[in-house]
Amino acid sequence: MKKGKFITLEGMDGAGKSTHIPTIVALLQARGLETVSTREPGGTALGEQLRTLLLHEPMHAETETLLMFAARREHIANVIEPALARGAYVLSDRFTDATYAYQCGAKGVAPDKIKQLEIWVQGDLRPDATLLFDVPVEISLKRLANAREPDKFEREDAQFFEKLRQAYLQRAAENPERFHIINANQSLENVKKLVENIISTL
Ligand code: TYD
Repeated sequence: MKKGKFITLEGMDGAGKSTHIPTIVALLQARGLETVSTREPGGTALGEQLRTLLLHEPMHAETETLLMFAARREHIANVIEPALARGAYVLSDRFTDATYAYQCGAKGVAPDKIKQLEIWVQGDLRPDATLLFDVPVEISLKRLANAREPDKFEREDAQFFEKLRQAYLQRAAENPERFHIINANQSLENVKKLVENIISTL
């Protein structure tokens, strides 16, 4: 039985979500909450091996979808569900909204296929809250150009990123009860304040 809370972070590459993880973990721990910080694809030994394949090997978009959900099955069984059952807060850097955005929105995999996998792999597990870090595409591309060696997804073009952004905003519009859209096109300090405000309500 789920007792803790499941919080996910989403956004395009370059939106800056990962920067805020230490802050969120510290805020939750300051409230005396056990906090498990994890990521997708990954979060388990097998999941991290799948991540290496997913981020670097060219493959069919449906193969990518299936491997994302294979990694997710492992992640849920070994990390997310046990933590939630203990009453922990689980913070995941990406989850299934990323599959809807990247594999469906940007790469064209049918949403029904993802929905079926979601039901199969997750049962009724859904995030309690999702922080969507939103920036215009040109900002995200500019940030990525200054970052480290890009992975497969980070090498995509502006059109791909535009589809991605729209898909994320659509997910948010369809799930307003759990999505918090953060305008990440402002100073780090301001974004941090927005994040703190949202986390204080969870
Ligand atoms: P990301 O979370 O951006 O990590 P880092 O900050 O280390 O680059 O990288 C994960 C990549 O995987 C990202 O480009 C999005 C992609 N991804 C999908 O395409 N589908 C998914 O379901 C998930 C979870 C991630």
